[in-house]
Amino acid sequence: MAEQDTVRLQDFDGYITRLFAPEDAALVDARALMRKENLPHIYVSPSEGKLLHMLAKISGAKWILEIGTLGGYSAIWLARALPADGRLITLEIDPHHADVSRRNIAHAGLADKVEVRVGPALESLAAMPITADERFDLVFIDADKEGYPEYLKKVVPLTRSGGLILADNAMKASVLDQAADSGIARYNAAASAHPELESILVPVVRDEIDGLLISRKK
Ligand code: SAH
Ligand code: DHB
Ligand code: MG
Repeated sequence: MAEQDTVRLQDFDGYITRLFAPEDAALVDARALMRKENLPHIYVSPSEGKLLHMLAKISGAKWILEIGTLGGYSAIWLARALPADGRLITLEIDPHHADVSRRNIAHAGLADKVEVRVGPALESLAAMPITADERFDLVFIDADKEGYPEYLKKVVPLTRSGGLILADNAMKASVLDQAADSGIARYNAAASAHPELESILVPVVRDEIDGLLISRKK
């Protein structure tokens, strides 16, 4: 991508962030602790965090599942959209990431709403009940990209009818190469062909362009 285009994309994201997604102290502090604890800079941007927050609010989500916690940054944006009796469960394989996330979530005053479960996400998912009154209103998938297709299979039955399944990083440049195989390309193909889902891939601007795949369970 030409350097000029990249600068303009970041300028647009800065504009969106200033107007619609300013961070408060808890979010600024969460990024600072992630940096101090050497967690990778792969958390959502403030503008994407606000998009997740809006989707949770618009859909009236009370029961949210996140796959891939890192330092709890996206979990804070999502959990802040919950009503008083709402809950978020977030799955994280790395105990150090989980520890940092718990500190950030507590600092944001959300410890009573958010539960961090440590372990491989597929194991945590396998242990979840699928009864009708315990289904999730919103699922945010943001862990290892190779795992995405399997996460989709596991979360569709865990999502209520009318609920949302969101997948981060669904518009990597590699998806344009029809010959290249990747977890993301397989996830996008599976979501688009899934009889129980209707979906749209929405571009998201960060350092470079990426996307959020939004699926609604029929
Ligand atoms: N959602 C976070 C960023 C998540 S980064 C945010 O935007 O703030 C991806 C996270 O997924 C990392 O913390 C990584 O340790 C975790 N992860 C990778 N493989 C996993 C697996 N199999 N099960 C659970 N978590 C996993
Ligand atoms: C990576 C992972 C992410 O979830 C993300 O938003 C950006 C980058 C990565 O593993 O490189
Ligand atoms: Mg991501």
